[in-house]
Amino acid sequence: MNALDYALSCPKAELHLHIEGSLEPELAFALARRNGIALPYASVEALRAAYNFADLQSFLDLYYACADVLRTEADFHDLMLAYLRRARADHIVHAEIFFDPQTHTARGIPFETVLRGLEAGAAAAKAEWGMSTRLILCFLRHLSEDACLACLNEAEPYLDRLHGFGLDSSERGNPPAKFARLFERCRATGLPVVAHAGEEGPPAYIHEALDILKVRRIDHGVRAVEDPALLARLAREGIALTVCPLSNLRLRVFDDMRQHSLPQLLAAGVKVTINSDDPAYFGGYLGDNIRAVQAAFDWDIATWQQIARHSIEASFATAEQKASWLDALTPPPTTEKRPSP
Ligand code: ADE
Ligand code: ZN
Repeated sequence: MNALDYALSCPKAELHLHIEGSLEPELAFALARRNGIALPYASVEALRAAYNFADLQSFLDLYYACADVLRTEADFHDLMLAYLRRARADHIVHAEIFFDPQTHTARGIPFETVLRGLEAGAAAAKAEWGMSTRLILCFLRHLSEDACLACLNEAEPYLDRLHGFGLDSSERGNPPAKFARLFERCRATGLPVVAHAGEEGPPAYIHEALDILKVRRIDHGVRAVEDPALLARLAREGIALTVCPLSNLRLRVFDDMRQHSLPQLLAAGVKVTINSDDPAYFGGYLGDNIRAVQAAFDWDIATWQQIARHSIEASFATAEQKASWLDALTPPPTTEKRPSP
């Protein structure tokens, strides 16, 4: 088995996936039709042609516009199940899925409608093939801390159905420190917290996410390589990064995959994981990210095994789940014949 086949076929967890970012243009048009809404694009092709982003904000503008087609519980169910089917094809055994309730409640969609729809999709995947999922509520950092606290109040009756809190949306100008009170309240629920940091924002935002928000993982974190002391800290403290290589290319964090900071992060001993972020918008799902990284870096089986191990270890799955997936990570013995002496 070669390294790419191993990387594609081994059991793994996806830890950085925005469910709204898995909305494919075909499904967007189908939901628009079902809900009697007009999208500001004439066709699937015209919408796809708009996926040409200059930076994070230009992507977010389109991402929030397309989310408008999500109206009913059935819409959120269909979105979730479509993503989970793709995840299954990439041998993802466990997916931790971000959702942005404020994007929906601001349009008058009740929090419970969103949650029930996403849960129903996840329940169907669990019943059909045993898929394991967790839901992480993400706050929109371009909004005020008070608006995010109001969202947390709204989520409070459903805490036993959530598995963590995150922070996403426009990073520059919205540092983690802006959300100190919010995250203190999130941590008081006992659920784990994570945050996007060091995607477009500086390494200082990663320090803030660790020191002020006290996050368990950093989403992206690829700019950590600009700060050697931070890099050493991430390695020493075993903080996992949920890196999204195709997203970083599409949002122009790096110009070329060969310039990505992944090799430096790995060389520093950081717990790197690979994820798809917003696969419908960035050119592919987890398998596509793996192919793109392998084309750039030609890693060996041991490196891919380590990345899969990180994804499982850094997940919020149970100890029993982790043990069974880690057991299945060992690659089959190589069948290559040694040359005779
Ligand atoms: N929301 C969806 N995708 C995001 C990303 N890559 N960064 C910040 N917020 C997001
Ligand atoms: Zn993200």
